[in-house]
Amino acid sequence: MNKIEVIQSAEEYAQQLHESDTTGHDFEHILRVRHIALQIAKTEEVDSFVVELASLLHDTVDKKLFKDLNQAWQHLNNWMNAVSLPLNIQQELVHILKYISYNGGKNKGKLNSLAGKVVQDADRIDALGAIGIARTFQFSGHFKEPMHISSIKPRDLNTMTAEQYHNEPNTAINHFYEKLLLLKDQMNTTKGYEIAETRHDFMIQFLNQFFDEWHINQEQD
Ligand code: ADP
Ligand code: NI
Repeated sequence: MNKIEVIQSAEEYAQQLHESDTTGHDFEHILRVRHIALQIAKTEEVDSFVVELASLLHDTVDKKLFKDLNQAWQHLNNWMNAVSLPLNIQQELVHILKYISYNGGKNKGKLNSLAGKVVQDADRIDALGAIGIARTFQFSGHFKEPMHISSIKPRDLNTMTAEQYHNEPNTAINHFYEKLLLLKDQMNTTKGYEIAETRHDFMIQFLNQFFDEWHINQEQD
């Protein structure tokens, strides 16, 4: 196996797969995750080859993105064999891709690879801050969800639990409360937490301004 060639091939694989995505999981997301993951990897004793590979391939078998999951896994298996990826790395990669996703909190504690944890932090960081906000509205638009519904009062936003948000109708704003605002405290690495904290604060600022503006419109009605 030639590591440089494997990485190049993985880049092409991801580019092809995510090329026409408009759900916030386009190839630029993959490239940003790789960049952040490699930055975090510098602060951890971790195999940067596995980190880079898992970053590039982390969304290739996501159940939200692909209708035929068996086919997606088969495609990935074929690729791993075609590039002669050693069996131990294949196994680690499969483990990472299985458990990296948030999955409504259901995958908590299941990821036991350090490389996977680094990529998970990077993926979550890309869901935060200005980019995270933009991706959330892009996702909601793609799936035809409203950005917010007036019946959910800002007053409730501070008292509801993430679980209660989950049971609300899907809106872009709900997604901040059911998931995005919880991510900061679930970071695996110190460096990841540092980056997440700044982006978290920016989202809070955004939400405050959002509700100020929304509220002004309500009062004028
Ligand atoms: P993970 O890879 O951790 O499972 P997702 O792929 O579900 O994360 O989410 C990536 C990003 O897609 C989210 O952070 C958010 O920006 C957007 N997203 C996912 N689910 C929703 C949703 N229900 N409403 C709005 N945006 C969403
Ligand atoms: Ni991702």
